[in-house]
Formats: sequence, structure tokens, C-alpha cells
Amino acid sequence: MTRSSNYDHSKQAWEKDVEKTTARFPERKSSFITSSELPINRLYEPAQSEEQYIEEIGFPGQYPYTRGIQPTMYRSRYWTMRQYAGFGSAEETNERFRYLLKQGQTGLSVAFDLPTQIGYDSDDPMAEGEVGKVGVAIDSLHDMEQLFHEIPLDQVSTSMTINAPASILLAMYIAVGEKQGVKPEKLTGTIQNDILKEYIARGTYIYPPKPSMRLITDIFAYCETHLPKFNTISISGYHIREAGSTAVQEVAFTLANGMAYVDAAIEAGLEVDQFAPRLAFFFNAHNQFFEEAAKFRAARRMWAKIMKEHYGAENPKSWKLRFHTQTGGSTLTAQQPDNNIVRVTLQALAAVMGGTQSLHTNSRDEALALPTEDSARIALRTQQIIANESGVADTIDPLGGSYYVEALTDQIENEANEYIERIKKLGGAVQAVEEGYMQREIHKAAYDAQKRLEANEDIVVGLNEYQLDEEIHQDLLRVDEALEKAQIDKTQHVRNTRDDSHVETCLEELRNAARSNENVMPFIVEAVKAYATVGEIANVMRDEFGEYTGM
Ligand code: 3HC
Repeated sequence: MTRSSNYDHSKQAWEKDVEKTTARFPERKSSFITSSELPINRLYEPAQSEEQYIEEIGFPGQYPYTRGIQPTMYRSRYWTMRQYAGFGSAEETNERFRYLLKQGQTGLSVAFDLPTQIGYDSDDPMAEGEVGKVGVAIDSLHDMEQLFHEIPLDQVSTSMTINAPASILLAMYIAVGEKQGVKPEKLTGTIQNDILKEYIARGTYIYPPKPSMRLITDIFAYCETHLPKFNTISISGYHIREAGSTAVQEVAFTLANGMAYVDAAIEAGLEVDQFAPRLAFFFNAHNQFFEEAAKFRAARRMWAKIMKEHYGAENPKSWKLRFHTQTGGSTLTAQQPDNNIVRVTLQALAAVMGGTQSLHTNSRDEALALPTEDSARIALRTQQIIANESGVADTIDPLGGSYYVEALTDQIENEANEYIERIKKLGGAVQAVEEGYMQREIHKAAYDAQKRLEANEDIVVGLNEYQLDEEIHQDLLRVDEALEKAQIDKTQHVRNTRDDSHVETCLEELRNAARSNENVMPFIVEAVKAYATVGEIANVMRDEFGEYTGM
């Protein structure tokens, strides 16, 4: 870009001042880098001409959506305040849901316990010691009805963090809606349903990749007809980042996974504009404020280009990357837990400055246990203060035009695209995952970050600097050990009082559908309505698809 002589003159004068100042006050580090090891310049200068602005950045609500997917963004509607919650029994979690809704949260987000997430009932030997621990125990439709007791499903959108058995929990949600008199087409929410990141980072997979992708595209097809307002997948970068990836890898691997789901749906015979408008995303927000805000802007622009230029999607709704953000769990420290309120605030602010549609803010005590009610309330208040008191929601994309943020947005986009090209050369995300490519890249990034921390190149307040001699006591939430037995009794009661022959018929019809290429969703809906359990349904598909033993 040609500069005026006046500009060059001023810049040279500044460079001289830098030399003089650093002779006496040298800079803190010889080089400054982001979490993705992108160099941070001392200063960023104007980079865009007007035509470049229109081409590369654009107006909010216009392709390529760098500044946000809606024309007015938060001036019309704040992001959804959607706190991830769930522990113990359906009744206990229902209480926490109703508490959070009363405190002003505007969306629900269900955390299921591990047995549910991996398709085991609470009385399965595999479930022992895990029932209700990291989320709510859901075995049958009876539990799901209790989970949403006095919560009208036509007035709230619900996210469900469930992947391998996503079809089963979605079917239960439909059945609860019908029992409340809410038609499936009125239901709003999201099912995470993203198995690739489970293979890469999170681990709650059941079936091998091929049948898993089939279950996912069966949900796409079923929802397109029956649940037009429901988001069919939440393509997640959160857990990839939690596993230790950099911000660039988080964007690259998530969008590469997104492309694999689009490919699979097209291969299953769906038209891109039929299902793409209901694809959703889920990202992390870590500590480096500008890198995180720029990351979201880069991801939005990348996905718009991928959908419009690579897949030829014509419906603008197919081009829009709509995402939820959770602040970075792995950044929380067990030391001085109140410090985490500050970290979460900065991370939440980055998500808002990056244009998130929905947000979960972690609680201060989550490095130690599931959050207490007090901690969960403070986490929600953090969002409400950012929304109502900081002013950042009163103009669109306030960081837009920042020389640094625009440059960082470009850099992240370029680096992430280079990763996507490498993944394409491996045959796409499924092959890259099976080959262990993404896992290796993440492990290397995690190792490098740990080395920087141990060398005190990276500082975590309270951990490797500013420690206390004695930690401050915290009241922590404890899940009642008696819960497991109570849950088992409840599920056995459901089994003893249902029409077993009807359950058997439903499971047999599901088995036949799983063996054929019929969409399994209608059969799973019938099975859950007969009070077949998560484990019974998941086991039918274990018989037919086999279990995956890992990469
Ligand atoms: N102008 C016009 N319309 C607007 C608007 C504006 N400014 N703002 C919002 N709207 C509209 C939207 O278009 C939408 O209408 P539509 O559905 O007809 O298009 C409606 O208002 C609702 O807005 P959003 O869709 O933006 O907000 P939602 O909150 O409903 O959806 C989402 C957000 C990202 C699309 C959705 O997928 C979602 O809620 N995801 C949440 C996922 C989640 O919570 N995951 C938690 C996982 S926890 C986990 O995995 C971590 C654990 O493992 C540790």
C-alpha cells in the first residue's frame, strides 16, 4: 500500500523514538506471540482501502459476515445466555434449570452424565460410580419428563450436549414436547451430534466412524422434515481447544470437521441448502482477548466462503456461521478460585466482541467441582453485566477497523486455511482423524504451551506467579452418593411397569432399520415413547454397528 510522504516521515520519527526509549527501557520480551505462536507486532497500521473493506470485511449481516451475521446484532437481541448445567437426578437438574431461568438466563443447556453420553443405563455395570457425576442421569423418557417439568418447551430453546446417542435424546425431547402439547415443528434448540471431535478430543464415541456419520445424517434428514427450527449439529471446537490446540487449530479442525459433515450429508442425498442453514458451531474463548475475538471473525468469514464458493450453497442462511461459545474450562485454576471470575469475564468479553450467538460462562469453582448455585449465579451475572453495563453491545463489531484485530483476523484465516489444505490432502477430516493427524498437531501444541508455562514464559496468576502460601477454603458442590441407587431403582421401576412386549417390538423394528439404509430416527422415537431405555436402544445399535475401540 503506497503511503504519503507525511505518513512515512511520521513513521520514521516514531521508529527513532522507539530506538531511544528501548535503550533505557528495553521491551519485556525479545518476541511477543499469541497462543497460536503468531508474532505480535509492536504496532499495527492502517491496512484496508475502501474497496478492500467491502471485499474482505463487509457490513454486518452481509457476506462474508466478518462483522457479524445479523444486520443489527446485539442492538436488537443480546446473545443467548445459555449456562451448561446438569448433575445428579433429573429432579435436581430441573431445579437448577428453573433457578437459572429465574435468574434471567435465556436458553437451556443440558449436561448429561457419562453413562448417558456413552449409551449405558444407570444400572449397567459400566455406569458404576459415574451416575449423575458430570451431568444428569437420563435412562428413560420418565427421566426426561422430570428434567423439563414445568419448563414449557415451546418457550425455551434447549441445547443438549450429547453425541453418540444424540438420536435417542433428541427422540426423547420430541416425546416430552408432545406430552406437553408442543408439536415437533415448534421445538427449538440444538443437539451437539458432533462425533468427529469425540474421536479427536472428547472421547464419548460408541460406534465406528461410518455408522456414526450415518446416524448424524439421519438426524439431518429427519429434522429437515420434522424439526425445521432445530439445529441438527453443534460442530465443536471447544473440546479441541481444551485438549490443547492453538486458536488457529481450533478454527481449522472445526471447520474441516464441518466440511466432512457437509460432504457426508451430500453423499446421503441431501441438497446443501436443505440442511446447511441448521448447522451450528461451538467454540472456546481462552485468555488472549484480541486473538480470541479475531478468531471468531476469521471463522465466520472462512465458513461463508467455504459454503458459498466451495459447496455452491445459494441460501445466505447456509453461509452464516452461527456459534455458541463457552469460556475456557482449562484456563481455570484451582488456586485462588475467585481469580477465575476475572478470567471468565475477559473470555466472555472476547466472545461478545467476536459476535457469538450464545454464551456459557464458566463458574469460578469448576477447576475443583461442578458449580455451586452461588458460583453459577456469578457466572450468569458476568454475562448480564457485560450486556447491560459495559456498552459493548451497543454498537456492532466494536473491534472492527482495529489495525491489530483486522491483521490478526487475516493471519488466523490464512494459517487456518493452510491447515485445511493439508487436511484436504489427507482425504478430509475423517481420514485425517483416522490417521491421527489432528491429534498429533494438538498434542504438539499442548506440549509447547506446557513448556512455555514451566519456563515462566507464560504466566498464570496464582499458579506460577503471585501464589498464596495458604489457599482460601471454598464450599464445593458434592453429588450425593445415594443418588446412584435411587436412580437405579427408578429405572428398574420403569422397566417393571412398561409394556415389555411393545418395547421388544420397537427394538426389533429399530434393529431392522439399522440393518437397512432406512432412517433410524422414526424407530427410535417409537422406542423411547414405549419407555425403552437409552442403554437398550444404544445396545441394539452396538449389535448392528459394532463398537469403536479408538484411533
Ligand atoms: N436480528 C435478527 N434476528 C436475530 C437476531 C438479530 N440481531 N438475533 C437473533 N436473531 C434470531 C435468530 O436468527 C434466530 O432465529 P431463527 O432460528 O429463525 O434463525 C433466533 O433469533 C434465535 O437466535 P440464535 O439462533 O442466534 O440463538 P440461539 O441461542 O437460539 O442459537 C446457536 C444459537 C449457536 C445457533 C445454537 O446452536 C445454540 O444455542 N448452541 C448452543 C450449544 C451449546 O450450548 N453447547 C454447550 C456444549 S457444553 C460442552 O460440550 C462442553 C462440555 O463438554 C464441557
